[in-house]
Amino acid sequence: MSRKNQTLGEFIIENQSSFKYTSGELSRLINSIRLAAKVVNHEVNKAGLVDIIGAAGDTNVQGEDQQKLDVYANTKFIQTMTKRNIVCGIASEEEDDFISINSQDENHQNKYVVLIDPLDGSSNIDVNVSVGTIFSIYRRVTPVGTPVTIDDFLQKGNQQVAAGYIIYGTSTMIVYTTGDGVNGFTLNPAIGTFYLSHPDMQFPKDGKIYSVNEGNYIHFPQGIKNYIKYCQMEEGDRPYTSRYIGSLVSDFHRNMIKGGIYMYPKSSKNSNGKLRLLYECNPMAFIAEQANGKASDGFNRIMDIEPTELHQRVPFICGSKNMVEKAEEFMRNA
Ligand code: AHG
Ligand code: MN
Ligand code: MN
Repeated sequence: MSRKNQTLGEFIIENQSSFKYTSGELSRLINSIRLAAKVVNHEVNKAGLVDIIGAAGDTNVQGEDQQKLDVYANTKFIQTMTKRNIVCGIASEEEDDFISINSQDENHQNKYVVLIDPLDGSSNIDVNVSVGTIFSIYRRVTPVGTPVTIDDFLQKGNQQVAAGYIIYGTSTMIVYTTGDGVNGFTLNPAIGTFYLSHPDMQFPKDGKIYSVNEGNYIHFPQGIKNYIKYCQMEEGDRPYTSRYIGSLVSDFHRNMIKGGIYMYPKSSKNSNGKLRLLYECNPMAFIAEQANGKASDGFNRIMDIEPTELHQRVPFICGSKNMVEKAEEFMRNA
């Protein structure tokens, strides 16, 4: 039984037995993500100090090379999972190709692959606005004991075993699902422990917030233009409020708590939108659906899309169910 103030460590142990494929492997994997999250959090929190600490040159006080935070986050998450020997493969937004992990002593016995956007919203780092990390976990489809192949990564979102995000915001949180609802844990930075602060998170069925980069308006499909006008119309509980942080994780998190819709449609500039199916859309779609929300490309369920390449982009509409359905209606009728 989950209860408020339980630590994430306790929660993982208690819920391990309710997970149908349980062997402890998934729990260890989520534990390692928790650990990497704390390390990255520490670095994100002092982002504004980087120039000061690194003023002597390109090295910091420990003599390490200064790195951009997205490269740093990428390295930390990959290192943590690789060194603990708990996954057989990793694909990252920051890497051209997937990484195959050869656990020599165990002869590739691990069955999970992880796909990750190590630092989401990276344009917000320099201006002290919240950023995030997004992860997605699948069981491999190729036989255990052999090197992973591209097929292990190009799985539909509906095959996800777990997905989550970390938000480095006014407080740092991990929000994740293993297919049995969504729970949120807040970091107490004084002692470095995550506590269950948001049990069983749910999108309100309706909302009043719409989140879209309206600077691209003239390039949007007609259906999205019409829906935006609908959001702005004076009628019933409208006009809605517009909120756009520019970090998917942060916009999604706010909308899940308050009720809202996030849209990154295709445009005449980006024919498939901007967001990446495997690192961003599928994990957020899994969380959304587990929280009674919805995720669509405007016409189809995100998690039913057959991926064809690692860095594939798709239009993304996600949030409160009734709002997403309304946007889809506008797309159909345009
Ligand atoms: P990333 O930092 O991982 O490249 O992702 C940024 C994404 C997403 O988080 C955000 O909502 C969107 O890009 C913002 O894009 P625009 O600046 O085009 O609105
Ligand atoms: Mn991103
Ligand atoms: Mn990123």
